[in-house]
Amino acid sequence: MSGYSPVMRATFLPFCRPSITEEDIAAVADVLRSGWITTGPKVAELEDMVAARTGAKHAIAATSGTALMHLALEAMGIGPGDEVVGASMTWVSTPNMVELRGARNVFVDVDRDTLLASAEAIDAAITPRTKLVIPVHYAGAPVDIDAIRAVCARRGVPILEDAAHAIGTQYKGREVGSGETAIFSLHPIKNITSGEGGILTTNDDALANKVRSLRFHGLAVDAHDRKQQGRSPQAEVQEPGYKHNMADMNAVLAVRQLPRLDAIIERRDEIAAIYRAGLADVDGILPLADPTWSHRHARHLFVVRVDERACGMDRNAFMEGLKARNIGTGIHFLASHTHRWYRENRPEWMGQLPATEWNSARICTIPCFPDMTDADAHGVLEAIKEVVASTRTTVAGGIR
Ligand SMILES: Cc1ncc(COP(=O)(O)O)c(C=O)c1O
Repeated sequence: MSGYSPVMRATFLPFCRPSITEEDIAAVADVLRSGWITTGPKVAELEDMVAARTGAKHAIAATSGTALMHLALEAMGIGPGDEVVGASMTWVSTPNMVELRGARNVFVDVDRDTLLASAEAIDAAITPRTKLVIPVHYAGAPVDIDAIRAVCARRGVPILEDAAHAIGTQYKGREVGSGETAIFSLHPIKNITSGEGGILTTNDDALANKVRSLRFHGLAVDAHDRKQQGRSPQAEVQEPGYKHNMADMNAVLAVRQLPRLDAIIERRDEIAAIYRAGLADVDGILPLADPTWSHRHARHLFVVRVDERACGMDRNAFMEGLKARNIGTGIHFLASHTHRWYRENRPEWMGQLPATEWNSARICTIPCFPDMTDADAHGVLEAIKEVVASTRTTVAGGIR
């Protein structure tokens, strides 16, 4: 192709970059200079801020969303012989934690265009062995939680919302995290971050106490209490616990970012709108659909599906094409049941989840983060159009 010059960015555009200001960096430095860098006042401040924002009675910070999933499953008594109903289209951390408790994942299929599990699918998957339902608010879109709550109340099964993608998401005017129990992730690709971290919100006092204790060795008090109160007789192991407490040097970053969350989401929404308008006439590159119920989307990930039948290329070729043009992409996610361990040890799920598997082979996350410019987003669109058009040319020319 002589004279052919692909759209080439001067610098690499990752699919995600955390929004970190000089003031954020200074706040972390202040904690480092303070003489107290592990669990302390900044963790307490973050927990109070998240409780105030969501309206939940308790907010508990830990080293990751995965760690909190581990603690919550243990605190809820999930163990051998139990079934946990959830989507395979999620990050494997959640199914892994279920397996590590000795329980079984019962995977439900998701809607082909929103990647959200429906109340009907969850209802159909519940059996007498079901001890928990874990719906995923995927990519920042809320599941239809009222409908899922109605099913779970009728079937007598508790809910633990996987809100890893959903800090700032609203469902029918209510903040995600205001319900029974939810877990947010503060991993660096999330809308706000603490480096690594997570927050569990709950209105259940007993669950909150148990998670707090399991988070720190099973002690009745944690490191911050020890600092405030000194070693006291009640600082004894109530039951063996873990070491999943968040450090202040992490918490302070999220404390700084949480007040910017709404602005961050608005900016993400603007980028998503540019993509949606620009992709409307690109055959075979299909953005996810938004839910039909009233919501505020947190726009955590901008996911497209690369439909080879319509655009002539598969997902890997699409990703390679963008990479060659200095644009990063991701896959969120390969369905959990398609990972090697699950294929080998839980083979019964292969072929059972058609919409999940269709998407697992085609989804691709394109850059969407608040510090991107409109020009960056238009450049991604141009590159996508060029990548797709170049394949068509190649196919038409009989080279493939
Ligand atoms: C859907 C989902 N659930 C859970 C997690 C786990 O969160 P963390 O990375 O904080 O452990 C993630 C992380 O990416 C996720 O995407």
